[in-house]
Amino acid sequence: ARLVVLVSGAGTNLQALIDACADPAYGARVVAVGADRDGIEGLARAERAGIPTFVRKVGQFTSRAYWDKALTDTVAAFEPDLVVLAGFMKLCGPPFLERFEQRVVNTHPALSPAFPGMHGPAEALEYGVKVTGATLFVVDEGVDTGPIIAQTAVPVEEDDDVDSLHERIKVAERQMLVDAVGRIAREGITVTGRRVRFGGGAR
Ligand code: GRF
Repeated sequence: ARLVVLVSGAGTNLQALIDACADPAYGARVVAVGADRDGIEGLARAERAGIPTFVRKVGQFTSRAYWDKALTDTVAAFEPDLVVLAGFMKLCGPPFLERFEQRVVNTHPALSPAFPGMHGPAEALEYGVKVTGATLFVVDEGVDTGPIIAQTAVPVEEDDDVDSLHERIKVAERQMLVDAVGRIAREGITVTGRRVRFGGGAR
């Protein structure tokens, strides 16, 4: 399966996918990495792996809709079977989601439906939950609301701060992402309403 991965930051989830794809049995390869900003470690990781990269910044376009269209066309040119948002800090608009219907997945550092949005680890800490984690889901128009593909649970320790908690989440998140994306690449997924199962469907 052909993966296009979109990033905005450190790209450790991307790196985990690149490393997994080194094994042919994994069934996927990263054909391009895109970003909404320059100068991030995620892009450097792709370049070091010899993977084509592109940057489409919202500010380069006269409207958000034009940005969305440019992003859609650029991603489409790489003919992905699956688009993986791996720490991509922009919402993809309807044209993007229509073009790659049920083929865009995102990873979120909380156990959905708890703590959607940009501050999952901080809000989990603030709330005082004892268990949080990460969620891989099929992207829909909402913020972290799409059908859930996989989740992994992580304990909150008494002396955690946001960084220590997020780092512990990210270790589990990377494993979940690699496991689930590999299964999607090899088996496909079927989405029925909010229920997702591996196998059968489009890849
Ligand atoms: C991940 O925890 C992701 O879920 C969140 O930001 C982090 C990105 O990490 N949205 P990285 O760039 O993959 O290292």
